[in-house]
Amino acid sequence: MTPSVLFQRLTLACLAAGLGMPLAQAQTAAPMPHDMAQHGMPQHAMPPAAVTQQAAPKADDRKAVHFPAAAKRATLAEMRAHLQALGDIQMALSRNEYELAARLAENKLGLSSMHGDMYDSARYMPAGMRELGYAMHQSASQFAVIAQDASVSGDLRPAIAALAKVNQNCVACHAAYKLK
Ligand code: HEC
Repeated sequence: MTPSVLFQRLTLACLAAGLGMPLAQAQTAAPMPHDMAQHGMPQHAMPPAAVTQQAAPKADDRKAVHFPAAAKRATLAEMRAHLQALGDIQMALSRNEYELAARLAENKLGLSSMHGDMYDSARYMPAGMRELGYAMHQSASQFAVIAQDASVSGDLRPAIAALAKVNQNCVACHAAYKLK
């Protein structure tokens, strides 16, 4: 997959998870338009070209890491679930459902989620990549604690900042590594 294709997929998936699908897709594609990740968004729903071109990386200096086919498949599926979880957490926060947000974060992204396919795949990761993965899981567990605090304080901002930190950890690994 070329970086621009991945970027486009990530962008589209973020739009879908974070903002809700624009236009007609929104009504037809509940709960999550998985097929979009496969086939891309129809032309009429594409963001303006300037937006995608502007943010696309200039050169691909990510380190390519070899995963066996099954591990790669499982990892990418897990990644899509991560993105889904981020959106679900944002939705829970928007409804003041702090306990739900905390539980989602801990179970789907946090240190407690480090088992199953992704954990098995971790053995194929170089040390630096594993550390970035751990940092992401750790930040999600931290978010879970901060989200619970928000239920007491009523102040959402620290929770939003902690969630942004999780997002930054996703971005850091994507900037450094790709699968082959
Ligand atoms: C430890 C590294 C790492 C972390 C942390 C990480 N990812 Fe990924 N992710 C990857 C790699 C590597 C790919 C494949 C990129 C490639 O080959 O071009 C990927 C791909 C993806 C994809 C595309 C899946 C597909 O089907 O092609 C999505 C969506 C994604 N990640 C979401 C996330 C989200 C959301 C987070 C944080 C909650 C996250 N990732 C955290 C390494 C990571």
